[in-house]
Amino acid sequence: MNESFSGTPRSMTLHRNRMKRGVLRRRARDISVMLVVLVCATVVIWTWDRTPISAFLPPESHYLKLQTEENVERIRTALNTETKDSYSSAINKEESKEDSTYNKDTKEEEKEVGEVTLSDTNQGKTPTIEEKKLEQVEREVIVSEPSYRKTPISEKNKLEQVKHEVAVGESKDTKKTHIKEMNTDPTDEERTDGSTSTAHIANKACNYAKGKWVVDTHRPLYSGSGCKQWLASMWACRLMQRTDFVFESLRWQPKDCSMEEFEGSKFLRRMKNKTLAFVGDSLGRQQFQSMMCMISGGKERPDVLDVGPEFGFITPEGGARPGGWAYRFPETNTTVLYHWSSTLCDIVPINISNPETEHAMHLDRPPAFLRQYLHKINVLVMNTGHHWNRGKLNGNRWVMHVNGVPNNNKKLAALGNAKNFTIHSTVSWVSSQLPHHPGLKAFYRSLSPRHFVGGEWNTGGSCNNTTPMSIGKEVLQEESSDFSAGHAVKGTGVKLLDITALSHIRDEGHISRFSISASRGVQDCLHWCLPGVPDTWNEILFAMI
Ligand SMILES: *[C@@H]1O[C@H](CO)[C@@H](O)[C@H](O)[C@H]1NC(C)=O
Ligand SMILES: *[C@@H]1O[C@H](CO)[C@@H](O)[C@H](O)[C@H]1NC(C)=O
Ligand SMILES: *[C@@H]1O[C@H](CO)[C@@H](O)[C@H](O)[C@H]1NC(C)=O
Ligand SMILES: *[C@@H]1O[C@H](CO)[C@@H](O)[C@H](O)[C@H]1NC(C)=O
Ligand SMILES: *[C@@H]1O[C@H](CO)[C@@H](O)[C@H](O)[C@H]1NC(C)=O
Repeated sequence: MNESFSGTPRSMTLHRNRMKRGVLRRRARDISVMLVVLVCATVVIWTWDRTPISAFLPPESHYLKLQTEENVERIRTALNTETKDSYSSAINKEESKEDSTYNKDTKEEEKEVGEVTLSDTNQGKTPTIEEKKLEQVEREVIVSEPSYRKTPISEKNKLEQVKHEVAVGESKDTKKTHIKEMNTDPTDEERTDGSTSTAHIANKACNYAKGKWVVDTHRPLYSGSGCKQWLASMWACRLMQRTDFVFESLRWQPKDCSMEEFEGSKFLRRMKNKTLAFVGDSLGRQQFQSMMCMISGGKERPDVLDVGPEFGFITPEGGARPGGWAYRFPETNTTVLYHWSSTLCDIVPINISNPETEHAMHLDRPPAFLRQYLHKINVLVMNTGHHWNRGKLNGNRWVMHVNGVPNNNKKLAALGNAKNFTIHSTVSWVSSQLPHHPGLKAFYRSLSPRHFVGGEWNTGGSCNNTTPMSIGKEVLQEESSDFSAGHAVKGTGVKLLDITALSHIRDEGHISRFSISASRGVQDCLHWCLPGVPDTWNEILFAMI
């Protein structure tokens, strides 16, 4: 390559030949440079594809703080005020595998939230400048008359105004609708034919997702400061600095049909000898805690049994907590449980002896828990959604698999598609199991909406609104706003618990800036205050079982 053409006393032919060769060589050099560039670009793109994009972009999800829950719960346990979680030392191999995944997942969440410590709680400290600012905002916030706690009341007339506005024209609706109690073993509304129950006939075609929110003096169904046994303090807004509680007094009124009033005793009678299982992410856990509080009316129930070990919920050695909780109401032998499965698919470590192993995330396989315990479940409520982001997948070292092998379908690898594919797979698998479990009623709960305004969860997004229905008065659409969920259940035996649109118009019901577990300045516009919106999901569920 270091030949020179200048000043060489050779024949013209030789010179021309050399020139030709030189041109060819230069072309070859160009081509190899291009090849090197191409290879480099491929490597860069490939690496980019494998790198947590979330490191550069705000992630889709705003799931805030399971690691914090963990901390809160560890401390509560230490203080011996924790509910009856299981601490058996026996370890079921399969479960501990799941738990290690679970714990990794929570660590990943902590990373995303940033440093999260209990000292972030804004209770009982000298107010900082930020807190003073908060107080100022609070003063502008509409405050409700608390039914369980004395709270400073300012601008009470504003509340009355809201109550009036909300209640205008609703006085008839707010009257309790008394419905004949259903059979102890009611058939589901889609399959009921010739039922003699008026409630059944009236509600046969009822789309509970359509309707409006009305103020009801019989809400909430339990006290947020009283349901200590089941309700995590990080979700009990009565224990926070929040002072407006209008959000607790709203009841969902379905359009053109009445919804059976929830009663704990009625629920237990209907669920005699039966098991209700929530399987999903932290929003599923919120629904589980809400249900426990609703059944017990928020009253202390020392007689309720911890039956976690019957479902493999055992705290692994060194693990923070089990993969779920299960409790039994002894008077009717009714079990209510929650199992953590953030993505609703099977996740298996690839090399079990390596603690840093990657995990196969089998998009086309239901969670192992469902395969193992479905025969013990009578009512199943599944959900997923907010964990499908690159940051969580990479942080957990979850590698998408389909058909038992790593997925190389680029289209499917896109998170929205992978999520949709998994929802479809798990729903259709559960549906395929229904003939083998005649007593099973299965629901897929549609996506719980987030309400971050002016940013994402980690870029200053907030949900400061306190006036209910500021973004809409009622829901009239036939189809679910969660297109993927609506599509997945179509033609299957799995029913849709469609709560997306009705929750969407309740942006004031989130934990917002009052979170005791998020970092300062980070708002929780994903999880809901309890009592609150998830109670309604359970009321609708109750009406559907
Ligand atoms: C509950 O199960 C037990 C044992 O299987 C049975 O004896 C009892 O009759 C059942 N109760 C109801 C109401 O089905
Ligand atoms: C409780 O219910 C389960 C089914 O969920 C049944 O297998 C068991 O026998 C019941 N126990 C009693 C004491 O009725
Ligand atoms: C699994 O991990 C262990 C510990 O890191 C390692 O020694 C072993 O070689 C790994 N096995 C395979 C098949 O990669
Ligand atoms: C979701 O997946 C199903 C089944 O795989 C497919 O039919 C449907 O078109 C997908 N929907 C979207 C929005 O990708
Ligand atoms: C919500 O409140 C926070 C602080 O309380 C403030 O920083 C933020 O700008 C507010 N958001 C909106 C949309 O008003």
